[in-house]
Amino acid sequence: MRIVVSGAAGFVGSHFCDRLLAEGHTVVALDNFLTGAAGNLAHLSGEPRFSLIQQDITEPFSIAGVVDAVVNMASPASPKDYLEHPVETLAVGSAGTRRMLDLALEKHARFLLTSTSECYGDPEVHPQVESYWGHVNPVGPRSCYDESKRFAEALTMAYHRKHGVATSIARIFNTYGPRMKLDDGRVVPAFLCQALAGAPLTVFGDGSQTRSFCYSSDLVEGLYRLMLSDERYPVNLGNPREMTILEFAERIRRLTGSHSPIEFQPLPEDDPKQRCPDIGKARAALGWEPRVTLEEGLRLTVEYFRGETAGALKA
Ligand SMILES: NC(=O)c1ccc[n+]([C@@H]2O[C@H](COP(=O)([O-])OP(=O)(O)OC[C@H]3O[C@@H](n4cnc5c(N)ncnc54)[C@H](O)[C@@H]3O)[C@@H](O)[C@H]2O)c1
Repeated sequence: MRIVVSGAAGFVGSHFCDRLLAEGHTVVALDNFLTGAAGNLAHLSGEPRFSLIQQDITEPFSIAGVVDAVVNMASPASPKDYLEHPVETLAVGSAGTRRMLDLALEKHARFLLTSTSECYGDPEVHPQVESYWGHVNPVGPRSCYDESKRFAEALTMAYHRKHGVATSIARIFNTYGPRMKLDDGRVVPAFLCQALAGAPLTVFGDGSQTRSFCYSSDLVEGLYRLMLSDERYPVNLGNPREMTILEFAERIRRLTGSHSPIEFQPLPEDDPKQRCPDIGKARAALGWEPRVTLEEGLRLTVEYFRGETAGALKA
């Protein structure tokens, strides 16, 4: 297949491109490098089935030739990034998603949207199941991301219902792994950088809020299966193993052999208290579930972060 991927220079996008190429597909990658980096795709520069176009997908563009699938991953994804770029985040979820859907419509291609567990907001239903409509503050600081993704989901369903585009929607829960930005502000890079530097691990609130963590290769497997499936309604992809942030901080300290103290700071506004996917639908519809243990995933991620932090110190 020939597949157009937006947001390809990002953390998830670059791993997804690797997987598509490994499966024998041809990839046309689009990115404006707002939060991603061409360096994430540098290893593909000599690959004849891969091309990278610098393109803001909120602006008009066209792709010549046959396209079999359109994958829309472009969007700032970490709170630090979308709080810094709130308007760009809303624009890429709305105008950007529309341009990618128009491309799928024009080319009679299937379409995959990477949405988010943030669609559930601060959930009142636990674990979160796809039929739950969510509890989102539409005017809070995080609304630029949550509502952008909710709009993108609605637009995707409209193209499916009105135009018959073969669409799929992944609701991704916290994912981690190599190629995450060191300063991205999410809990995995934050704790790892702090632990490796011997700095205090910053825990917001009392650390009793829960999260679950999915390793990047597990997510990519789920996305790949979903892209090829006939499932039109959203599917949760994430790891259902839930733990408190405080437990997670302890685990990072053990794994890195760090003696960093834990420092408590006030909870950010609208921070969800519980976050854990119900993955029953992904199991049934895609035969998918995460395989990589937290210990193994963190080991691989720590290795990457050690390399990156050593590089950053040398530079
Ligand atoms: N990583 C996670 O835990 C997670 C969780 C939920 C959802 N997601 C979703 O997965 C996707 C990828 O997330 P990520 O963690 O890799 O983030 P990322 O920031 O690393 O990657 C996003 C990419 O999109 C690009 N981009 C942003 N605006 C663009 C535009 N207008 N035109 C072209 N490119 C643009 C960025 O430059 C970047 O390369 C996003 O849609 C995100 O919402 C990720």
